[in-house]
Amino acid sequence: MTQHLITTADFTNEEILKLYEDTKLFLDLQSNNLLQGKLIVTLFFENSTRTRSSFEIAAKRLGAEVVNLEVHTSSTKKGETVYDTVANLSAMKPDAIIIRHSENGLPESLREFVSCPILNAGDGKNAHPTQALLDLFTIMEHFNYNVEGKNIAIVGDILNSRVASSNLELLPRFGLNPILVAPKEFHVNSSFKTVKNIKRVIDQLDIIMSLRVQHERHAFTYSKEEVEEKKNKYAKKYCITKKLMKEKDILLLHPGPVNRNVDISDEMLEDPRCKVLEQVKNGVAVRMACLKKLILNQ
Ligand code: CP
Repeated sequence: MTQHLITTADFTNEEILKLYEDTKLFLDLQSNNLLQGKLIVTLFFENSTRTRSSFEIAAKRLGAEVVNLEVHTSSTKKGETVYDTVANLSAMKPDAIIIRHSENGLPESLREFVSCPILNAGDGKNAHPTQALLDLFTIMEHFNYNVEGKNIAIVGDILNSRVASSNLELLPRFGLNPILVAPKEFHVNSSFKTVKNIKRVIDQLDIIMSLRVQHERHAFTYSKEEVEEKKNKYAKKYCITKKLMKEKDILLLHPGPVNRNVDISDEMLEDPRCKVLEQVKNGVAVRMACLKKLILNQ
């Protein structure tokens, strides 16, 4: 049966630890020919810098060929549904389809239209499985795979973040304790400890995962001035600064794109505790391992 990666729940813990063994082998990001002769299609209906290029580089490092469908010039603009688009692409017999879409749950509903693995590159605020897998890998490597009982603050727009959603599914499975830190309007119904002020929990933390405010998913639109005012107010309380971090031994993560001096200060982005670019590098290796697993079924 074809295996997909729609959410992190598609992989068992055992499968993830095996995936990380492969990831470690790919960390030098050197080329090989494991997927030579294979063809991968990418379909990005939402903007992306990291995920799209990371998947494409991962595929090419494995020797696969990649077709990027430019959706703004595709027949979806002539009224073709995304289901028909994907069914037509699947009829051309690619070895995997990678899709990002703004609609929650869309990749899940594509399962019946394809005969190859689907890799979800982010759907609305629902899931971003490869991001969570690379976040956990970065944490695992940092703590030498001793992550049981580590406290991780997830800071920011938790309500609208697919990164938060996937990490909240994945991290507790490996014994990590998420603490949600957000203004009231970004709170979610959950059993995880939730606070409005990070200073209340900073001394308990091993990891901070800062998130971007997802303005594009908010129901209201504000004027430029109002956005600026809201940003400044948010940054005062939630920007991760040196003043907050002091010399504490805390790993600092962010999935990107970072809004400088709103999510994380310039100074902290330069700090050795900040592993944003290491996450990006690890992301290519994790995606190489995911493509190998799903396409070769091993
Ligand atoms: N982390 C992430 O999903 O970044 P992009 O939106 O640039 O792909």
